[in-house]
Amino acid sequence: MTGTTLAGGVTSAETIHGQREFLLPSMLHMYQEPLVLEEGFGVRVKDPEGREYLDLFSGILTVSVGHCNPRVIDATVAQMKKLGHISTLYAHEMQVEAARKIADIAPGNLKRTFFSNSGTEAIETALMMACLATGRSEIIGLRVGYHGRSFMATSVTAHSGWRPLATPVAGIKHAKSPNPYRCPYGQPCDETCVDKFVDDLEEVIVTTTNGRPAAFIAETIMGVAGYVVPPAGYFEKAAEVIRRYGGLLIIDEVQAGFGRTGTHWFGIQHWGVEPDIMVMAKGIANGAPVGATITTDEIAHAWKGKTISTFGGNPVSMAQLCATQDELRDHDAPHNAQARGEQLRAALVEMQERHPWMGDVRGMGLMQAIEIVKDPVSKEPDMERTKKLLEATRAEGVLVGQGGLHGTVIRIGPSLLITEEEMAEGIEKLGRAIERVG
Ligand SMILES: Cc1ncc(COP(=O)(O)O)c(C=O)c1O
Repeated sequence: MTGTTLAGGVTSAETIHGQREFLLPSMLHMYQEPLVLEEGFGVRVKDPEGREYLDLFSGILTVSVGHCNPRVIDATVAQMKKLGHISTLYAHEMQVEAARKIADIAPGNLKRTFFSNSGTEAIETALMMACLATGRSEIIGLRVGYHGRSFMATSVTAHSGWRPLATPVAGIKHAKSPNPYRCPYGQPCDETCVDKFVDDLEEVIVTTTNGRPAAFIAETIMGVAGYVVPPAGYFEKAAEVIRRYGGLLIIDEVQAGFGRTGTHWFGIQHWGVEPDIMVMAKGIANGAPVGATITTDEIAHAWKGKTISTFGGNPVSMAQLCATQDELRDHDAPHNAQARGEQLRAALVEMQERHPWMGDVRGMGLMQAIEIVKDPVSKEPDMERTKKLLEATRAEGVLVGQGGLHGTVIRIGPSLLITEEEMAEGIEKLGRAIERVG
């Protein structure tokens, strides 16, 4: 045994040693030395040595109603004591209830859900669904988009660091990322740029596909890309283009869903666009492994072959989902995300005035990011300062995420139930970390 532990379990050093020996070396972890976490409650987590952190990243925007939420725990335990597993070969009231809850808040005519076990699986389901419904097989994604880790999901992902294979799945093309901060068409990026981004999408369809795409898939806010918010009007026009060519609109709400972006339940509702298929995961069930793909009656009926999922729709995960959704609804998560997001954004903008290396502060609701650059004119990504800032946040006892094509974006996405006081504490800690590297 090395080191000491207050929790009476295994020390951080032992866990890190074990991880290095038995887990896949390519697993990305935060910080120079991995951080081991052992317990949590609400927006706080502790390492095995008892050091506390304010969690502003919530396990990648997943712990939507706080760590070890009592209502979610009670629902989980009650269901585990009753019936733990059946597979989708049998019907279960919890799965029906979960689907009903999602349909109640989903936009437009989205009504029928297929439950799986991760965002990646839900993306796979959506892509296959679109191909089955249209009888076509070509897909358009967005550059710098991220959709998961399977063969198909890494193929629609357009971020070289997340594509370990040279040519994963054929028939997938990528249009330009509508990134206002790095808009190639002009600064400030405005509605004329929107038309150019959408022209590019159309050009990709007519030049790099057979002109008959099955679908266009996009995140409403590009999460892994560093919370890139497409300019107003983009989704309306992109939806019009893909539908004009007979394809479907798949919206990936894995990060942006469930009130995260403020005011609405889903990011796409800010733009008044109704997707044909929508994908959810992460915050849907507070950390239970649930992916969900929702679509219309008509598209759902086009899936003619057989399908099952052994673990999808599992009664325990569904109980966790239902309790999470009840918590989000009872605490009016979209409203809280809006208010706490504004609180955070105002503080970040104020810090940006003093630190020009905070090149861009962006996001919506409780999805706020800082892009770190060498200077605001060249906008050259600054990896050195990003690394220092990450270590400084850890030292100050606050957890944030990293993202962006070059890894130079700091991402913030806490529990959607975070209070004003907790957010103020987070801002103070983050501010001190920023001053340390300023
Ligand atoms: C937008 C988006 N889609 C899909 C996924 C894949 O989800 P998972 O990691 O649960 O497979 C992610 C994961 O980060 C994501 O951010």
